[in-house]
Amino acid sequence: MPWLDYSGRLSSLKLVVFIALFLPGAWTAAGLAAGTLGAEPLKEAIHQAGLWTFRFLLIALAITPARQLLQWPRLILVRRMVGVAAFAYVMAHLALFAADQMFDLGKVVSEIVLRFYLTIGFVALLGLAALAATSTDGMIRRLGGRRWQRLHRLVYLIGLLGLVHYFIQSKIETYEPMIMGGCFAWLTGYRLIARRRRDRRVPLLAVAMLGLSAATLTALAEAVYFWLRNGVDPWRVLAVNVSLATGLRPGAVVLAAGIAVTAIAAARPLLKYLRAPRWRFGVT
Ligand code: HEM
Repeated sequence: MPWLDYSGRLSSLKLVVFIALFLPGAWTAAGLAAGTLGAEPLKEAIHQAGLWTFRFLLIALAITPARQLLQWPRLILVRRMVGVAAFAYVMAHLALFAADQMFDLGKVVSEIVLRFYLTIGFVALLGLAALAATSTDGMIRRLGGRRWQRLHRLVYLIGLLGLVHYFIQSKIETYEPMIMGGCFAWLTGYRLIARRRRDRRVPLLAVAMLGLSAATLTALAEAVYFWLRNGVDPWRVLAVNVSLATGLRPGAVVLAAGIAVTAIAAARPLLKYLRAPRWRFGVT
């Protein structure tokens, strides 16, 4: 049962996350049934399922940093669940796409082969299927810890492919994909730094620099994108990140997120103190 922990006891964390994972899908299904998804309900449902696939993928990647930064090791209990949810949502995304093509499988295949962004999405889907299929306890045992870990590192490549797919189809609506791209860069950077350290812990200064680097990369990516696509002077795009003349640009949002995470990392010793058994049981 997905809501039981390793010792077979009910885990409230697992239960809450398990229920939460269904909510976006239930919201979209209810919208489809009630006819509240706009003029093109199937297209809107495809978008929502695609968005939640990518969001769940990012949340799954964020669990390892969150365990360390929040001093909350039990978060590992929900990582597999979130990853499998990403796979379930991408299958719904594909099924809705097939429904939009009137279940004409020839058309579905030819669209995937002929449209570059769909081909990339399909490769990412195959990758997610491979990760989901090897996520059972039996498969982990059969593959062995090291081989399993090496295989599951593919999740970063899958995330990159998903991001490219997301980006290409979003055309000029790049606000959210840019933010997601910045978060993805942060998560990949965290992983790379942690891998180089023996204790797998990322020091506070590195967390701060990572936030700054991910935000800078996001702002640069946005400037280059508008320069290549619309010929807008990249300095003007970079300047609005600072002046905030057009509201919070994606680079500024990623910077704010990086500062928040750095503040949490700085509070790590306090969190450790609060989580110490003597505090929880009131023993001084
Ligand atoms: C066979 C695989 C896939 C197919 C056929 C597919 C198809 C599509 C289609 C048709 C759209 C809407 C495009 C438009 O309206 O112009 C879309 C959008 C999207 N897809 Fe996929 N996709 C696939 C795999 C993936 C994967 C693996 C991910 C994530 C890792 C993903 C994430 C997204 C996202 C985030 C959007 C944009 C949603 C939005 O802008 O609101 N897709 N996809």
